[in-house]
Amino acid sequence: MTHPELTLTESRPFQTQRRDTWWLQPLAVFVGLGLFVLYGLFRVFEGNHFIHGPYLSPLYSPVLFGTEEVMHSVEHSWFGMMPSWMPGFITPAVLIMWMPLGFRFTCYYYRGAYYKAFWADPPSCTVSEPRNNYRGEHSFPLIIQNIHRYFLYIAIIFLGILAYDVWKALWFDDGNGGTTFGIGVGTIILAGNVVLLGGYTLGCHSLRHLVGGVVDLLSKVPIRRQAYNCVSCLNRRHMLWAWMSLCWVGFSDVYVRFIVPSIGQDWITFF
Ligand code: FES
Repeated sequence: MTHPELTLTESRPFQTQRRDTWWLQPLAVFVGLGLFVLYGLFRVFEGNHFIHGPYLSPLYSPVLFGTEEVMHSVEHSWFGMMPSWMPGFITPAVLIMWMPLGFRFTCYYYRGAYYKAFWADPPSCTVSEPRNNYRGEHSFPLIIQNIHRYFLYIAIIFLGILAYDVWKALWFDDGNGGTTFGIGVGTIILAGNVVLLGGYTLGCHSLRHLVGGVVDLLSKVPIRRQAYNCVSCLNRRHMLWAWMSLCWVGFSDVYVRFIVPSIGQDWITFF
């Protein structure tokens, strides 16, 4: 039996026989990611208000170089003050945000989502594209997306750094030059951020391949099999983890930037 050959060039852009609201999901992704990008750009280049008390915004962690404008930023910094020769638009966030953003940008889930939402490639399943050729990810520039695995290694290190920030968010100024243990709303928010980012990062497709790939019989390697099952479990809801963690990163920053300065002290100390 022969099939008539279907090609994209025979269709008008966005032509489809679908009757459902297929455009709703790409539109929601466009709005959601677009808002995050706009807010992220504002915050990354603002270069200010990223520390309040013991709380450090995840958009600025780790602080490689502190700045004069932000009190205590040098105490958090790894290498002291920002060098004077550094151009003004280079904020502490600019120096590090390319790493978590690179991880998200090359994520298998996000790729599928923003290809549809931002350049309609394709707009959705069985909806024709507004172009007549497709070069895919086998050629430049999208072949660069294969770098995702290396961003995964960095993202795992970032998880450790953000967990350490939660530890530091447990120690509050005691008013006598020392610190005292306590828990604040901000501490809980930053801890929630690590949990959600952990769910997203540890459910990565590349990690699943790393822990479960190569061996022929996974059942013969019980530890790897267990790890594979754990990663697979998170991977099943990768999209959900991706969105929850993205929203929570933004919310954590909003809390440190806008909310806690306006409400003053938000913590309870125990000693
Ligand atoms: S595939 Fe989404 S984080 Fe790796």
